[in-house]
Order: sequence, then structure tokens, then C-alpha cells
Amino acid sequence: MGAGWPRAYKSKVVEPIRLPDRGEREACLAQAGHNVFRLASGDIYVDLLTDSGTGAMSQAQWAALMEGDEAYAGSRSFALFRDTVRSITGMPYVLPTHQGRAAEHVYFSSVVSRGDVVPNNTHFDTTRANILAQGGRPADVPLPHAFDPQADLPFKGDTDVDALEEMIREVGVDRIPALFITVTNNTAAGQPVSMSNVRAVARVARAHKLPLMLDAARYAENCFFVREREEGYQGREVVDIARELFSLADGCLMSAKKDGLGNIGGFIALRDPEVYARCRERLILVEGFSTYGGLAGRDLAALAVGLREALELSYLRDRVGQVRWLGERLREAGVPVYWPPGGHAVYVDAAALLSHLPREEFPGQALVCALYLEGGVRAVEVGSAMLGEAARMELVRLAVPRRVYSREHLEWVVDALVRLRDKASSVSGVRLVEGEGPLRHFTARFAPVD
Ligand code: F0G
Repeated sequence: MGAGWPRAYKSKVVEPIRLPDRGEREACLAQAGHNVFRLASGDIYVDLLTDSGTGAMSQAQWAALMEGDEAYAGSRSFALFRDTVRSITGMPYVLPTHQGRAAEHVYFSSVVSRGDVVPNNTHFDTTRANILAQGGRPADVPLPHAFDPQADLPFKGDTDVDALEEMIREVGVDRIPALFITVTNNTAAGQPVSMSNVRAVARVARAHKLPLMLDAARYAENCFFVREREEGYQGREVVDIARELFSLADGCLMSAKKDGLGNIGGFIALRDPEVYARCRERLILVEGFSTYGGLAGRDLAALAVGLREALELSYLRDRVGQVRWLGERLREAGVPVYWPPGGHAVYVDAAALLSHLPREEFPGQALVCALYLEGGVRAVEVGSAMLGEAARMELVRLAVPRRVYSREHLEWVVDALVRLRDKASSVSGVRLVEGEGPLRHFTARFAPVD
């Protein structure tokens, strides 16, 4: 099994988990309409649904929580949070939100008009839905090799700069409120974006006088990959790489439930005072006053610590090393996985594993159900069930929560997937019974195809 990866922490508090027996799992899945979003967490043994808000906080974060200042306005915890965000991003205007999609809602409702187009390397599902909700059109411009699960390349999350320029020419700058880059590119298998590609997109943005925004949910993991894989960044402090990354952008939206190491939280950071003023007005209407934005003071205090911890090299080596370890074990065992593994998740190629299932029978969703039945493991589909017609691959994401699971948990997941590989042809497809719209995967119901 190899030596594993260097761990950066040990446990101090534990949470009991339980493996329901096979009969229970069958009943739970049927009750949930074959949609694992509908399962109760107590019925899950290893939960790899998401890495969002599911991490374990450090002792320093729990200590910070006790010092939270719950003042409605001018909270000390906000000042700590704002100063941390400023020191990492270099952006002067910081608005806290309760999570990433609230930042999206506030930002897009402030800048998008009906008919506008928002390009991105690849939009995450809530980003896409928030742009659509404003009457805008989310447009993806990834590189073609992002959809090749076997192309072993370092930065498969990059934007296709030529395609972006062509899109700007076609649509016209007046219809584009901002360019976006998502780091890491979650929908494209969590692949990192190179600094040189961000720089190239920034040049395009500047040439057209368009703002460049980052969807920065997993920026720290992205910067770790830049340090490991991009010429000229070896040996650099991760925080310096992050500062360089943000220096290329005019603003960012962040789900702090990922690389903020928080259980809840997000923010908007901006350089433009006018956009800031519009967003602040909107924030006060839908989230809360601009010094708490839908969060408790204690959340802001814990995030101020978490944002720094997520940039520590020992933490990132452990974090990305654990995910890579999972990917390598699966690949060695002959389970088809998107390669290389992303920063926060390993993506199983369900179309390859369940090659007997046509797209209409949702191979990804079928595999998610089979994995729960086999091992009590919860994963998530990133394919036709989630993305509809926009899906270019049928993937199942094994998202690893931060600082939560041990090697034994992940070995359990590998073993369950290896057993499924051995009996892949017996896994039946599913059909959609109920659910529509860009967020249907959260609430849809499926049924096995006989
Ligand atoms: N952007 C990206 C790249 C994301 O991955 C997410 C959330 C969001 C924005 C929205 O943030 O959840 O705080 O509202 N991703 C989670 C996931 C849900 O499972 O990948 P949020």
C-alpha cells in the first residue's frame, strides 16, 4: 500500500459513525428515491459527498470561536476576518456572506443584466444557476483535454484563452460584466489552473477593460499545485503564490467552507469601490449588515484562523497527499479514475466503469447508488444528473473532507469500489422519476431500471 503521506495533525475530539447493514442500506436508499442527498447522515459510514463545510476545525479555530464578538456592527471578529482576507488577496473591500452561493447571488444580482454572458473555465452548479437566475448566460471555456480523463497533464483546469477571445468577439464586451476563473476547477474534476494561464486571461481582461474575478473556493489547493508543478514556483511560500494569484484579479467570490477551513462562511473581495457599494447594498438586503453578512461573529473569528491554516505547507501536503493516495490506490486496483487526481477529490470515470449503461441511464448516479449499497459510502454524481445536457463526462466524485478521515476509512472506500469493479456488469442503471432545472440533482428522485 506504500508509505502513505505525512500527516499534519492527530485527533482530539471524535465523532462516532456506524455502518448500517446491507438490508438497512437498501431500505434507506429506496426511501431516499435513489438520491443520496436525501439520505440521513447517520445512515452513512464514510461520507464523501462533499468537502464543503465538512472539515474538522483546529484547536486554534475552536479557541478563536470563544473570542467571537457578536456585535451587530463593527465587530472585532469582522476586523480580524477582513484584515486576513486583505492580507491574502490584497483587495481592500471585503464583504462576508454566509456561504459561496450567497456571494454569487449578491455579486451577480449587482452586475448581471438580462442577456449578459459570463465566461468561466467551468462554472460550478450554483454559479451557473445564479447567473441564470439573473437572466444571464453562463459560458464555459475549458481546454479540450479537461474532458479527457486519461491525459496526464499538470493544469487541466486552465481556460482556453483562444476560445475566450473568440467568445468576447462574438458576444461583444458590452454584454460581458466580468470574466471568471474557478480555482481549482471543481466541475472539471478539481483540476488546477496554472499561474501563466491566469496571467493570460488577465491580459485578455485588461485588453477589453473587463474585470477578472476568481471563484476562489479552493485557491489554496490550487496554489499548492502551482508550487509543485509550475516552473519558477518551487520552494516559494504558498501565501506568496496566493498573493500573486489574487494580484492578477479585480475581485473574488469565495466559499470559505472549503479553503477557509470553516463549517460555514464565504465572502466577496473587490478592488472597485463602485461595485463594492452596489454589492454592499444588496448584501444588507439579503444577508445582513456588512460587518457580519449572515454569519455569527464567532464564525468570522474561526475563519480568520482557518484562512491562514489552509495556506500552511504541512497542511496542504497532508491534504493533497491524502487525495492523491486515494487516487493512486484506485488506479492501481484497476478502477478507472480521472487522472491526475484533483486537489479535493478523486473522480471515478463511471462511463468507463459501467460501460454497459447508456447515458440515459445515468451511469454516474447508478454508481453512486451502488457504492452506498456496497459500503455505506456516500459520493456525488458530476455528470448528466447534475449538469444535464452540459455534461461532458459521467463522473462520480469522492470528495475528501479536510482533516477528517484516516487511511483506514479510505481503504474501506477503495475496497468497496474494487468489489464493484468486479461485478460492474450487474449494476443496473437508473431513470429520472422527478426533478427539473439546473439544481435538480439536489432534490430529484430516481428509480432503478429493471
Ligand atoms: N464555487 C465552487 C467552485 C464550489 O465548489 C462551490 C461549492 C461554490 C462555489 C458554492 O459555495 O457551497 O459555499 O455555497 N461547492 C460544494 C461542492 C457544494 O460540493 O463542491 P457554497
